[in-house]
Amino acid sequence: MKPLAIFVLTLTGTAAVAVLGGAVVVATGWYDVSAASSHTPPVYRLLEKAMHQAVRVRARGIEPPPLHEPARIHRGALCYRDHCAQCHGGPGVAPSDLAMGLQPLPGPLMDAAHRWRPAELYWITRHGIKMSGMPAWGMRMTEEDLWALTAFLGRLPDLSPADYARTVTRAEGGQCTTLSASCRAGHCRDERAAATPAYVPSGPWPVRGPERDAAARLALQQYACIACHLTPGLIGPDAHVGPPLSGLGRQQRVAGRWPNTPEQLAQWLQTPHALDPRSAMPALGVTPEHARLMASYLLDQP
Ligand code: HEC
Ligand code: HEC
Repeated sequence: MKPLAIFVLTLTGTAAVAVLGGAVVVATGWYDVSAASSHTPPVYRLLEKAMHQAVRVRARGIEPPPLHEPARIHRGALCYRDHCAQCHGGPGVAPSDLAMGLQPLPGPLMDAAHRWRPAELYWITRHGIKMSGMPAWGMRMTEEDLWALTAFLGRLPDLSPADYARTVTRAEGGQCTTLSASCRAGHCRDERAAATPAYVPSGPWPVRGPERDAAARLALQQYACIACHLTPGLIGPDAHVGPPLSGLGRQQRVAGRWPNTPEQLAQWLQTPHALDPRSAMPALGVTPEHARLMASYLLDQP
């Protein structure tokens, strides 16, 4: 047999064994998915390595703004206290019960700035980490707050428990409200800030095109729409809590009674209970900008 044929046969054989092995692992339920046991050492190392590499590659070319300004670091401390400490803890501060039950465990971020460059810390905070419990904050925080957090993480390695307590207490005056929380409370902050980083539209209604579609799909996923609706263009659970969101453009009415105009649909996405107090569709803190983006995309889907 020729060497090439032997090589091809070996390769095909190995691939077949790997696929078969994978199928056996899945079919027999062999891998323990319980969050009460950790990954096996090889799986853990493989996932960590893959995550590190993926972040490094994607954060290349991101230019951080100046990160030493005291005001920015203070803002970051506030955001850390309000949105990160419950999972990652802080110097002398334990994570919450919820976080201690997660697997992988969200580690302390006291030394994160020694292991990651600022652009990488920003990337992780903005995009989150799939299958780990680390949320993506990009749809809910302004660019400014994402960089403020990065600046604070850079200071964290130098903070003793007393320093940390003092820093977050001094920051007590304010709150680091997310965009969705301020919209849910009825006062959406600055609309342009709300549109970053997902989409910065040039007019009141987003211009059709691949950029709009990608941003709209991101919003539909990040506002948990796919948890309840089968949504065109997105992969998610086989959800039927709400009606499928395909063919909305052909519908006469939204939610069975309101004229199906783009404005009305965007209104529905922001405040469903204002249109139907008994609706099971929750108010998800959608910003006006993101509502117009999703409405414009959904009305175009077949
Ligand atoms: C719901 C829990 C949760 C919240 C809230 C959370 N994280 Fe995480 N975070 C995680 C988990 C889980 C990981 C992954 C740990 C792993 O893979 O080892 C992680 C990983 C990270 C990492 C990489 C850590 C490392 O040691 O390599 C950074 C940086 C990070 N988070 C920053 C943040 C920031 C900043 C916030 C606040 C805006 C935040 N996280 C909020 C759960 C959380
Ligand atoms: C917790 C589940 C849930 C989530 C999350 C959710 N919805 Fe809904 N949605 C519903 C239910 C239930 C209805 C039916 C409402 C009714 O008739 O009261 C509905 C109705 C709708 C309708 C009207 C459909 C029609 O045929 O008239 C649209 C459009 C819609 N949702 C879009 C969205 C979008 C976009 C998101 C994300 C921003 C979202 N939904 C998030 C449950 C949900």
